[in-house]
Amino acid sequence: MSAIALKEGVWSVGVLNPSLRVFDIVMESKYGTSYNAYLLTGEKNVLIETVHTDYFEEYVENIEQVIPLERVDYLIMNHNEPDHSGSVSKLLERCPDLKIFCTAAGKKHLEDITNRTFPVQVVKAGDTLDLGGKTLEFIPAPMLHWADSMFTWDPADKVVFTCDFLGAHFCEPTMLDSKIHDKAAYAGERHFYYQCIFGPFASYVQAGLSKLPAEAEMACTSHGPVLTETLEECKALYRQWSTPVPKEGKTAAIIYASAYGCTRALAQAAAEALEEMGIRTVQHDVTMESLDACAAIANEADVVLVGSATINRDVPKAVWDVLGSIDAINTKGRAAGAFGAYGWSGEAPGMLQTRLGQLKFATPAEAFRVLFTPTQSDLDAMKDYARSVAALLK
Ligand code: FEO
Repeated sequence: MSAIALKEGVWSVGVLNPSLRVFDIVMESKYGTSYNAYLLTGEKNVLIETVHTDYFEEYVENIEQVIPLERVDYLIMNHNEPDHSGSVSKLLERCPDLKIFCTAAGKKHLEDITNRTFPVQVVKAGDTLDLGGKTLEFIPAPMLHWADSMFTWDPADKVVFTCDFLGAHFCEPTMLDSKIHDKAAYAGERHFYYQCIFGPFASYVQAGLSKLPAEAEMACTSHGPVLTETLEECKALYRQWSTPVPKEGKTAAIIYASAYGCTRALAQAAAEALEEMGIRTVQHDVTMESLDACAAIANEADVVLVGSATINRDVPKAVWDVLGSIDAINTKGRAAGAFGAYGWSGEAPGMLQTRLGQLKFATPAEAFRVLFTPTQSDLDAMKDYARSVAALLK
């Protein structure tokens, strides 16, 4: 991709990665992605973000379509995850006097990533950078989605640089929302990106939206198209997606795997106990419901009970997959417990209990397990266990 003039003196100098299919190990990217970076030219020349290290040479070629690299004065790093900071070391080798602007958290990340020192100015809310002819303003917006995140505001051009915020893993070479060919695909990827990257940080999303300058006419993100005609729509969607859905009363999710119906009987007993407490309870058998459906109820419920038979001394993969889909950022104040019937060794409930504790749920001291077919006494004990988990709710 070549350098693209977005406005007078505002250039896109990022790169495309259309073949990427998994971003950050965990996130499918069906349409590839782009590592966006920007160059502001004038009396002083400023880069905003670098690119993934594999694309450094293409990034430099794009910059040099506009100005020689040695004429770049500053580098602003709104966020320092290596998909944006990966070329900082190489850039410093070519431009050793380059002055970097980032937040305090960003400075630490950059030092840890580059293992070197460099000229850096830590910025805070309201700090500005005079470029001669225009002044940039820094707007820290922490936890979008790292502690280091900030926006950079260019009021003269009405452009805000938001890094990951409002982005999408989407790859079309025009780099503009107004020129997207497959708008439906982009809309789907924009939502998926939001869910994966910002879903766990909803309250910070609301704070970030309130910090975006209302006068902004263009949002230069770090992935996917630059937003102009869809900027207000995107902000409204982020507002909608990050607004908590009001719910009445407490809810519980019981997710289980049962080989011969014994663990299922325990799940049913637990559900009865929780319903008797006025807690609306949904049960999902992992072999009958999709992983997404199981993860959804687990991530929404106040009380989570996970039940499993033990197969060859382990928890079946389908149950581990559910626990691997728990939003570990938002378990505070929620309670969870593990249970299961077993035939000979019975490790699964204890393993699940350990994992739920690691996810920072409030958990009772022990998991609950029963040897083979639950008796009435076992079912009563299961009910007591479910009540004890619910009692841990804050
Ligand atoms: Fe695109 Fe959080 O990095």
